[in-house]
Amino acid sequence: MIRVMHTQITSAGTTDLHQVLADHHRYWGDRDLRSLHLLALVQEFGETCLIARAEDGIHGYIIGFVTPTGTGYVHLIATRDDTRGTGLGRRLYTAFADAAHRHGALRLKAITSLGNTGSIAFHRRLGFDAKTVDDYNGPGQAMVVFQRALPFDAMQP
Ligand SMILES: CC(C)(COP(=O)(O)OP(=O)(O)OC[C@H]1O[C@@H](n2cnc3c(N)ncnc32)[C@H](O)[C@@H]1OP(=O)(O)O)[C@@H](O)C(=O)NCCC(=O)NCCS
Repeated sequence: MIRVMHTQITSAGTTDLHQVLADHHRYWGDRDLRSLHLLALVQEFGETCLIARAEDGIHGYIIGFVTPTGTGYVHLIATRDDTRGTGLGRRLYTAFADAAHRHGALRLKAITSLGNTGSIAFHRRLGFDAKTVDDYNGPGQAMVVFQRALPFDAMQP
């Protein structure tokens, strides 16, 4: 468990995911990503699914896992609309990177849509290389793929 000011980052449980889904718009705005919030990921990869919680609820979360070839894959990361720009996204990534590294990850990977300029700027700031990969999500559906090596030094992108 990592204590950061008034926000604690701990393993996520299924109750947390239900709570996030109830407040989905606070994390994702108008985009409907509810179907990507798979309870099975939290059930099976509890060590790398993390929640940042405070007295007033869940400030952010990161859901990911480590692949057999040593990639710490981030499936979802979001911070609540009133906590953005405070460094919480970076802290969640740091905690995920530590957990993934402990479970054998050598690198981190994530993807986003071409239009998610905020996510692209955020990942670049965290030292990720960003590449557009044609047909990643099927014919004609390009995605931006982020990669970076571990260890993850929060202070040194
Ligand atoms: C992307 C997201 C997780 C960033 O979280 P955050 O808590 O605001 O990020 P941080 O405050 O830790 O920012 C870390 C760095 O990224 C930069 N950054 C974050 N969002 C940025 C943006 N939209 N544009 C430019 N830079 C940005 C910050 O300036 C900061 O740089 P610094 O450390 O040099 O000051 C958050 O905006 C979010 O939840 N967005 C909606 C969900 C989403 O799109 N998730 C990504 C899906 S792949």
